Amino acid sequence: MASSEPQSIDSKSKVALGVCGGIAAYKAVEVLRGLQRAGCTVRVAMTPRACEFVQPLTFKALSGSHVIVDDYAPDNPDPIAHITFSQSADLLIVAPATANIIAKFANGVADDFLTSTYLACSAPVLLAPAMNTTMWEHPATQRNLQKLRSDGVHIIEPDAGEMACGTIGPGRLSEPDRIVAAALELLKGTTQHDLSGERFLITVGATREDIDPVRFISNRSSGKMGFALAAAAKQRGARVTAVTGITTVQPPVGVKTIEVKSAEEMADAVRNELQNSTIFIAAAAVADYRPAKQAAQKIKKNSESLTLELERTPDILAQASATRHEGLLVIGFAAETENLVANAQIKLRSKNLDIVVANDVTLANSGFDSDTNTINIITRGDNEPLGLPSMSKAAAANKVLDAIVRLRSGRATAKTSTS
Ligand code: PMT
Repeated sequence: MASSEPQSIDSKSKVALGVCGGIAAYKAVEVLRGLQRAGCTVRVAMTPRACEFVQPLTFKALSGSHVIVDDYAPDNPDPIAHITFSQSADLLIVAPATANIIAKFANGVADDFLTSTYLACSAPVLLAPAMNTTMWEHPATQRNLQKLRSDGVHIIEPDAGEMACGTIGPGRLSEPDRIVAAALELLKGTTQHDLSGERFLITVGATREDIDPVRFISNRSSGKMGFALAAAAKQRGARVTAVTGITTVQPPVGVKTIEVKSAEEMADAVRNELQNSTIFIAAAAVADYRPAKQAAQKIKKNSESLTLELERTPDILAQASATRHEGLLVIGFAAETENLVANAQIKLRSKNLDIVVANDVTLANSGFDSDTNTINIITRGDNEPLGLPSMSKAAAANKVLDAIVRLRSGRATAKTSTS
């Protein structure tokens, strides 16, 4: 999203800006100035290689703060800089982010100040990669980026065009005003605090229904959508508890997790936690059926076919809605393969929900295990659903939270745009 003049932001927003050694390092000056114009305070850290492209003095003069390159250097005024630098930031940006720093971040390497700062940082992270096209398209770089996305890192895709090295293709640092706009979007989430006082209970991931000690019934839910909701609610000031089934990604920092396996265990955990919650979101892919009997021993392959009798599992969402205490908001999801809105509206009504988030799980890059989702938000009492384009699960999560805030405030705020 490019904007000519970034909108201003809460001036208390603190941004840590990391600069790596690439020809685009000079553009980081523009990113710094754009953030300052939007009211942010910015501190800068540089890798040693970055100093070969731009002098630290440039950033020190503009930011008014000591620029950290090596926190062991005698001129570093703060002996635990990697902690104070990261813990005081509302957002960590790395621009340009080289293939090297991306690989180090993705694999938890902490061999210098910037990589240590990344591991010590609990704020949102935005990377603006810049490198030669061949390096950008290399499977190793793409694998590292995928890992970082699943760790919840926000990536602003590089532009395509003529590179300094003369090649043409993707890999050119995104324009500074696009980086600034993306940063302000994320800061809106971190400094919004519009959910402080709320206590979220969110079910996440897949359940696993045992057939025998070896086999089970499950599904492809990774937990990314549920954890994106948990991270976004936390960033916006809420307390968050996640009841997590089987997930393939780590929970966000600062979220209490209760680990379960089966639908029954998930139902018990939700029942225990619901009374202390003000908002319940059922984002988990809970098995609707489980084996009526679990075999005590591994079932032998004695015949050509095997018939399993299945029975219904507890409907956690319906139970939460039916037993809700005063003030509890109940939000469900609908994983559909056809008639998306109609089927979701049936769920909204039949389970007496406040909001249902509908996603067509047959769409590419949507639904199970993808880093993006295409959702329809249906709020009780609204005439029509809010259909949204494909976006990161972090962005989709914030759209769901916007709908919750709107409902809580009696729909006083205008309907969120579909952009
Ligand atoms: O985890 P990801 O890989 O990121 O994938 C995200 C997702 C596709 C799992 C997520 O976006 C999603 O759609 N979650 C709901 C999946 C699901 O079970 O949908 P459903 O239409 O079958 O169930 C409807 C609702 O009832 C859901 O809120 C579900 O959590 C809930 N449910 C279902 C069965 C059951 N026994 N108890 C429940 O609470």
